[in-house]
This record gives sequence, C-alpha cells and structure tokens, in this order.
Amino acid sequence: MKKPMHKASSKPPKAMLHKTQPQNRVADPLNKLWSGRFKEPTHASVESFTESISFDKRLWRQDVNGSIAHAHMLAKQRIITLKEAEAIIRGLNNIALEIAAGTFSFSRNLEDIHMNIESSLTSRIGDPGKKLHTARSRNDQVALDLRLYLRDEIRSIMSLVRSLEETIVAIAEKHLDVIMPGYTHLQRAQPVLLSHHLLAYVAMLDRDRGRFSDCLRRMDVMPLGSCALSGTSLPTDRFLVARELGFNSISMNSIDAVSDRDFAIEFLAASAVLIMHLSRFAEELVLWSTEEFRFIEISDRFTTGSSIMPQKKNPDVAELIRGKTGRVYGNLVSLLTLMKGLPLAYNRDMQEDKQPVFDTADTISACLTVMTGMLPAIQFNASRMKATAGEGYSTATDLAEYLVRKGVPFRAAHEITGKIVLHCIRKKIGLQALDLKDLQSFSPLIDRDIFAVLEPSTSVRTRTSYGGTSPAEVKRQIRHYKKMLAK
Ligand code: ARG
Repeated sequence: MKKPMHKASSKPPKAMLHKTQPQNRVADPLNKLWSGRFKEPTHASVESFTESISFDKRLWRQDVNGSIAHAHMLAKQRIITLKEAEAIIRGLNNIALEIAAGTFSFSRNLEDIHMNIESSLTSRIGDPGKKLHTARSRNDQVALDLRLYLRDEIRSIMSLVRSLEETIVAIAEKHLDVIMPGYTHLQRAQPVLLSHHLLAYVAMLDRDRGRFSDCLRRMDVMPLGSCALSGTSLPTDRFLVARELGFNSISMNSIDAVSDRDFAIEFLAASAVLIMHLSRFAEELVLWSTEEFRFIEISDRFTTGSSIMPQKKNPDVAELIRGKTGRVYGNLVSLLTLMKGLPLAYNRDMQEDKQPVFDTADTISACLTVMTGMLPAIQFNASRMKATAGEGYSTATDLAEYLVRKGVPFRAAHEITGKIVLHCIRKKIGLQALDLKDLQSFSPLIDRDIFAVLEPSTSVRTRTSYGGTSPAEVKRQIRHYKKMLAK
C-alpha cells in the first residue's frame, strides 16, 4: 500500500477527546438515530417505503468488519479510548454471532443494516456505542460495505468460472475424435471438431474471468473516512482502516468515494457479458437436444418432464440459463439508469443499487454452478454429428482450396466449385457421389485424390492454421488452457 500522503495531524489533546460528555437521558420519542431536529414522527407509509433492511441485511458481515476496523483506527488515533474500542468490538462480535445464528431482531424503523447494528450496539454497551459513528457517515459506510461484498462475490464467481472452464476443457479432451458440422447462419458450413467448438466457450469464459479481475482491481479502493462527502476535521488514519480490511489503496476524493457506483456497474456489465455467453451455450444445448438435431442427450438429472405429455424430456435448465439472461441485463440497465441523473454526492436513489447487484451475483453463481454440473452429464451422439458433418456440401471449401493448391485463383476456384455444387443439387447427390469424369468437366485440374479431400475427416485434419480445427491445433488449445487454468 502507498504511504500516507500526509500524516494525521498532531495528536489531539487527550482530555478533550476522551471526556465523556453529559448524556442526553431523555428517551427519544421519535425512536430514530437522526431524530434530533424532527418534531413529528415519520408517516406510516414512509417507513416501509424508505427501509432497506429487508434486503441490505445481507451486508451485515461487511458492516461489522468495517465497523471493527473503524473502531480500531479511532482508538489508535486516540479519538476514542482503548476501553471504548474494546467494548464496541465485543458488542459488534456478539451482534455478528446473533445475526449468524438467526436470533438478531432487525427493525424496520431503523431503516438499514447500518443503523440496526449501531442502535443494537448502543443498547448493549451504552455510551461507547454512540462513539462508533465518529468520523464516518452511512454514505461512506455503505460504499465500503458494497465494495467488501462485491470483492468476495467476484472472487467466488471467478472461481466458479474457472471450474466451468476446466469442465469444458476436460470434455473437449475426452471427445477429441468427434467431428460435427460447424455452422454459420445456422446452415451447415464446414466440418469442425466438437472439441474445437466447445473450446470457443472456454475462450469466452477466459475473457469473462479477465473482466471480473479487472473490475476487482479497480474496486480495491477503500472509501471509509470520506464521511458524508467532505471528509472530517478529526485526526483519522484512513490508510490504517484500508490495511486492516485488506484494500490496496484508499479513495482520493471524498465526494467521488461516496457517490461512485461505477464499481458496481462494472460488475453488472461483466456479469451481463458472462451470462450472454452462458446463454448462447444454453441455446445450443437446447437446439442440439431436439429430435431435429439429435446431437446430444442431457441427463435425466438436468432435465424435467411435462405435466401432460408423458413422453417429454425438456431442457429446462438450459432454457432457464437463457431466460435469466434478461434479468441480468435488466439489472445493468437499471443501475446505469439509476445513476445517470444524480447530482454529486450521495442521493438516496443510490439505495436502489443493492437489489440489482445481489440478484445478479445470485443469478450468475447459480447459472455457473448448474452449467458446470450439467455439462459432464451430457451424452454426445458422435455418429449423428459425424454423419451430418458431411452433408450439405460442407467440404465445398476444401474443393476450392484443392484448386487453389493447383494454381487456380481463389475467386475462380470458388466459381468452379459453386457450379459443381449446383450440379449436385440438381442431381440430388453429394459431392463425393460425383464421378471423376463429371468433376473434370468443371476443371481438368481435378484428379482422383479429390475424393479423400472431400472427406470431413480430411477437411478437419488439414485445417492446421493457427487456431484452426485440426486435431493438432485443438490439442494445442487444450494444452494452453490447461496450463492457464492450473495457475
Ligand atoms: N441505506 C442507505 C443506502 O443504502 C445507506 C446510506 C444512507 N445515507 C443517507 N444519508 N440517507 O444507500
């Protein structure tokens, strides 16, 4: 971590900071941590409208950890006494135990997780509890909690992506001999190895992991101590808090720190791209498991039946991965839209950031987990894939490249081959069913060796360009990803 740019100013006079002020013993009739300047209680409809405890209670662990680090720092800087810090930390740990055990009672009129914890702390330990919120605000507190939460979520999602990649690589390695039709426009285009097709998803997922890792790096900035928006006059040490919480750096600008949500938007954007990839894969699984394709059979364990049609076995898991993509996109657009008109710094609108973030983290994790479970339980119908790989004139490009090797310019070779295909379509036969004489009537350069060239297996074996579908190239890809994934 970088050195503090400027050290906390000279130590505060001990007596002033440690003297316990006379406490206000009058019970608060409005029952709010902020009700000092209020004369009337909140309208009944407002409490349920403004609360976030129903969903942000999920941040309790981050909130407690942030508060413990903050209390340590306050004591170290002599803003509170060591004894007060100890009482605070003991109280916070007890609260954490109760929340984890499910025995803590959350209260809606305390709005959010921050005030629920703080208020419970004060009711447990008395006056020292009232000092915890010194030199911080809920604005920097929530920015901290969300970063801490996302930091953990992203690490866990990255490891789920890695497992999915490993699973696909293992399947690709196991099925190296399976040839399938490669498609463009969903029309059979050229034969490819099934492994090559599957490894395309590994390439996508690898970039997804990179996007999460980039996002994590930018997110690794500690905002606490920015307070409401302008910092504090108290002699805090923000670097200390950052070190304790394992952050790489601290925010430069307090106004930015409390009003920035682009770290969350980046997470939602990386998630949207990831689930777009999962959705494409899921769509292929749906398609491949149809009677029309018959390329795969998904295990009973990852399919469901119909309540009316006894014969049905439906790919609902894959469909739901595809379906949930809409929600994840929606969450990104929702937060982008939420932020676009907000003046600096914090605005309450920003409380609406949490549900999209939680929902995306949950959805992405569930989709990755179920996809990783489902893939090894898929049976590939190798003979059907191979048979269809040779249909639809899929080796026409090989014929054109054969002519190129004999010196024909590619455009001319394309034209000749197109004519041959048209001839075959009229005769309702495949390229390999033509006899040599027929072929030679289109180009005298064509010889008997053309028939091997038209084999799908030759087509695949000879596509040796870097990144191509030849077994040698596909094996190189597998080696590459295995090495990368082992890191
Ligand atoms: N529950 C709030 C949120 O999630 C915490 C910050 C509230 N700050 C405030 N000044 N009202 O955004």
